[in-house]
Amino acid sequence: MKILITGANGMLGRDISLALSNHNLILTDKEELDITNSEELNKKITELHPDIIINCAAFIDVEKAEDQEKIVNKINTEAVLNLAKICKNNSCTLAHISTEYVFDGENESGYNEDSLTNPINIYGKSKADGEKLLQKNLDNFYIIRSSWLYGKNPQRGKERGMNFVETMLKLATEKDELNLITDQISKPTYTKDLSLAIKKLIEENYPFGIYHLTNEDAVTPYKFAQEILKIKNISNIKLNQISSSEFHTKAKRPKSAILNNTKFPKLRSFREALKDYLYS
Ligand SMILES: NC(=O)c1ccc[n+]([C@@H]2O[C@H](COP(=O)([O-])OP(=O)(O)OC[C@H]3O[C@@H](n4cnc5c(N)ncnc54)[C@H](OP(=O)(O)O)[C@@H]3O)[C@@H](O)[C@H]2O)c1
Repeated sequence: MKILITGANGMLGRDISLALSNHNLILTDKEELDITNSEELNKKITELHPDIIINCAAFIDVEKAEDQEKIVNKINTEAVLNLAKICKNNSCTLAHISTEYVFDGENESGYNEDSLTNPINIYGKSKADGEKLLQKNLDNFYIIRSSWLYGKNPQRGKERGMNFVETMLKLATEKDELNLITDQISKPTYTKDLSLAIKKLIEENYPFGIYHLTNEDAVTPYKFAQEILKIKNISNIKLNQISSSEFHTKAKRPKSAILNNTKFPKLRSFREALKDYLYS
C-alpha cells in the first residue's frame, strides 16, 4: 500500500513509520507538508495519490493551547476538514489520530467509541471538532483515539525526557520527594503498541469508524509513577499524594479519561508495555 504519514517526525509518527515499513511510505512533517497549507496539501495528495493518509500531525501542547486557540484550530480542526475533503476527491482513506481529551472525564466507567464527546479545554475541543468534520465529509475514515502516550522517540523539538516515564526517572535522580495527582485516571499507552495496533487495523481492513486503542488498565499519575519506580527498583524517592486542585494548570483536565475498547482485540496491560519500554 502507498501510505502518506503526516507529522512523521513526532513521537507517534516515527513509531508508526517503523511499524509500517513494509509498505511504500511517504513520510512528511511540517517542512515537507504543512497540513494547514490547503493548496499544498491538495497538490501533494493529488500528485502522489496515496491509498491511505495517517494524520499524526497535531498541536498537542494542552497548556499552550489555552492561549493559542486560532493556530490550534487551524492544525487540529480546519486542516482535518481539508484532509477529509481531499481524501474524498482522491478516493483515499484517512486514518486520523485523536485523544481521550475529547471527553469531559465525568463518567467513571469510561467512554465507548460511540459515547458523546464533550471536551473541557481548547485542545480537546479542537480535536473533537476535527473528528466531527471528518465524519461529516468522508466515509473512508478511521478515527483512532488513544491516551497518555509515551515512546522512545522525543516529541519534536523537546528532550526525550518530556514523556511522563522519562520525567519520573529524571526527577528520581534529582529530588527526594515528588507530588503526584491521585484524582485523575487514564490508560498510559506505549507508542510502539499503538503503532502495531494501527498496522493491524489497516492491513486487516477493519470496518471504517472510531476505535479506542490503548494499553489496558487505567491508573492515576501517582500509581503510574509508583509502577515506574518499582520496575526500575528505585526506592530513594518519596511519592506524595495530592489532588488536582493542589496542582495549578491553565487547562482543565478530564478526571476519568478512560477509553473503553469494545471493537478491537485488547492491547496488553500498561505494566507489560512499560517493562518492555524500560528494558528493551
Ligand atoms: N502525546 C500524547 O499523550 C497523546 C495522547 C493522545 C493522543 N495523542 C495524539 O497523537 C497524535 C501524535 O501526537 P504526538 O504525541 O506524537 O505529538 P508530536 O510528537 O508533537 O508529533 C506531532 C508532529 O506533528 C507536527 N506538526 C505540527 N503542526 C504541523 C503542521 N501544521 N503540519 C505538519 N506537521 C505538523 C509536529 O511538528 P512540531 O513539533 O514542529 O510542531 C510533530 O512533528 C496527535 O494527534 C495527538 O493529538 C497524543
